[in-house]
Amino acid sequence: MRFRQLLPAPGAIEVEALLESLEPGADSPGHRPRVAVNFVASSDGHVTLGGRSARLGDDGDHAMFHGLRERFDALLAGTTTLRVERYGRALGDPQRRSRREARGEPPEPLVCLVSLSGELPLEIPLFDEPEARVVVFSPRRVATPSWRAQVEEVQLDPEDPPLAAALRRLRSDFGIRAVLCEGGPTLFGALLAEDLVDELFLTLAPVLTGGSGPSVSRGFEQPLPVNLELKWLLERNNYLYLRYVRAHT
Ligand SMILES: NC(=O)c1ccc[n+]([C@@H]2O[C@H](COP(=O)([O-])OP(=O)(O)OC[C@H]3O[C@@H](n4cnc5c(N)ncnc54)[C@H](OP(=O)(O)O)[C@@H]3O)[C@@H](O)[C@H]2O)c1
Repeated sequence: MRFRQLLPAPGAIEVEALLESLEPGADSPGHRPRVAVNFVASSDGHVTLGGRSARLGDDGDHAMFHGLRERFDALLAGTTTLRVERYGRALGDPQRRSRREARGEPPEPLVCLVSLSGELPLEIPLFDEPEARVVVFSPRRVATPSWRAQVEEVQLDPEDPPLAAALRRLRSDFGIRAVLCEGGPTLFGALLAEDLVDELFLTLAPVLTGGSGPSVSRGFEQPLPVNLELKWLLERNNYLYLRYVRAHT
């Protein structure tokens, strides 16, 4: 799918080729995976329209969303997002799964959940999908009925900051080098509070939603701003696609 690249060098670009050139785990810190966050937001900064994100994106945003999923070792999503968006398997498109296998990767990224309460949205399609690989991190014991997905549970020490602990275990026990966090705002805020965000993919939709829906991050005090460096800026159908990485200055 063709996008207009505005930065770094103006010109037309195929998003598939651009994402193929990504190396999401290349600069991962040794002790945890690199963490990228992906959101679509309205131009006034809201991340839902009618209570969900789906109506904010168009086919270009969907291409970016699934293209990013294809390139990461693991996905991380908040339990509310899983419930509201009714998560299913990570990659439904057989071509995407084949391309991953051709790169020597598992056909789908590992889906990671961190639950402080231990109460999972067990009714979502993800848990009924035999090919889905899921790991659940929680300081509590998680209720485990019979599910068809391949689910592994990791109990966290309640004394440890949960997201840093989960990410450490993803690196050491699961070999994960790059995680794509798909929100929502509470989970993103918690990652910022633990200072665990390396990169942001942000789609700005050409729409104003108004209202009091959530914005991209919320809920936690952050002692310092995280400064960002713009790596690319793309445009398609009046949507803007920004890729920011953390500036080390
Ligand atoms: N536009 C977009 O790109 C986009 C992306 C994602 C979501 N969304 C929208 O955002 C909304 C959901 O976002 P949300 O902010 O309400 O919830 P969320 O971030 O999806 O999930 C919050 C949950 O994450 C768990 N969690 C794990 N670690 C945590 C920590 N350290 N601190 C706090 N909670 C932690 C908790 O679940 P437990 O109760 O299990 O402990 C918490 O209730 C939905 O409406 C969804 O459609 C939009």
